[in-house]
Amino acid sequence: MYQLRCIDCGASFQDDNLYNCTECGGLLEILFDVSLADFKLDGSNISVWKYRSLLPVRIKPVTLFEGGTPIYPFKVEGKGRVYIKHEGMNPSGSFKDRGMTVGVTKAVELGKRSVACASTGNTSASMSMYSARAGLNAYVLLPAGKVALGKLAQAVMHGAKVIAIKDNFDVALRLVRELSEKKGMYLLNSVNPFRLEGQKTIAFEIVDQLGFVPDAVFVPVGNAGNISAIYKGFLELKEAGYTDEIPKMIGVQAEGANPIYKAYVEGKEDIEPLKNPETIATAIRIGMPVNAKKALKAIYASKGKVIQVRDDEIVQAQKLLARQGIGVEPASASSLAGLLKDDSEFENSVCIATGNLLKDPEEVVRVIGKPIEVEADIREIEKVL
Ligand code: F0G
Repeated sequence: MYQLRCIDCGASFQDDNLYNCTECGGLLEILFDVSLADFKLDGSNISVWKYRSLLPVRIKPVTLFEGGTPIYPFKVEGKGRVYIKHEGMNPSGSFKDRGMTVGVTKAVELGKRSVACASTGNTSASMSMYSARAGLNAYVLLPAGKVALGKLAQAVMHGAKVIAIKDNFDVALRLVRELSEKKGMYLLNSVNPFRLEGQKTIAFEIVDQLGFVPDAVFVPVGNAGNISAIYKGFLELKEAGYTDEIPKMIGVQAEGANPIYKAYVEGKEDIEPLKNPETIATAIRIGMPVNAKKALKAIYASKGKVIQVRDDEIVQAQKLLARQGIGVEPASASSLAGLLKDDSEFENSVCIATGNLLKDPEEVVRVIGKPIEVEADIREIEKVL
């Protein structure tokens, strides 16, 4: 059905317990026999598990009915047809649920009792929900003071043991990798290739919903797993004979957290770590993306590019989306900010909106302000209308 293959040295493995190549330490990806694909891209019954024939699990899935998220036409001058794929409409409010339904199912399949992750917020919210559903123990390391309130609330309420460390996400990830190895916890960051398999269903759904392959897909990039996964999804559709093309994969990074942008501009295949990443889009405040090599491969192979956007451009795009009824958190608006900044001429493009507005209410209050407060008197109200 599938095997694990190292993206660096090409060694292949049949052991689902691995996250890294035992020969060279490289990242693993899952190589599927795509002739097993048995779904129809006819726009019906869209959800992650519609595409089960290309998902690497053997047991009944742990599911909260993820995927099947809306794709909205978005009005914008001079940019061709633009669609927003609203991943904030998943059960925990972000695209991470697509990965967690597969990753947590794999944890159960492997007989694990505990799962762990480092997170800028959404991964932990999602992991906590799905591990609660499956009855597993969950452990989370977060960068203290840098995780949006909605995400933190989800992680703690669904029962994860949440530990905030006095450092950034990159350090949290290094520590949780060490910890999970020591304690036998199943690691659910995007170094886990099974999790990324769930996320590739974004590509399947885009074609299923639109009925065609768009020219370009704009994706916010932090740890760089999602853009790699979406590219893999488009590649498998082509290999399985569903489609003829692959869209240009366009990664969007915040200017203050831009190692992949820098690598792209210099034509490199890997990044130079960035010590102190900073951006209003805390979800993508990452200086050492673990999936950088996978992402850069996807970007070069699809003839895509990487764009960087300023925080004020992110906020502007977030407001534009909100004014057309699409509520997203800052990181999620970076894909549209990237499209607005880009000078390419595409007939049609899809921007991935990765997480819901409710994830980060404090940012909204900071950029919009609090509502006006007046006495409970009709004349007072009329004065401020
Ligand atoms: N958008 C949102 C809302 C995210 O939460 C993330 C990543 C990304 C984009 C970037 O995706 O890492 O696959 O490139 N959040 C992770 C987390 C890091 O811990 O929740 P990526």
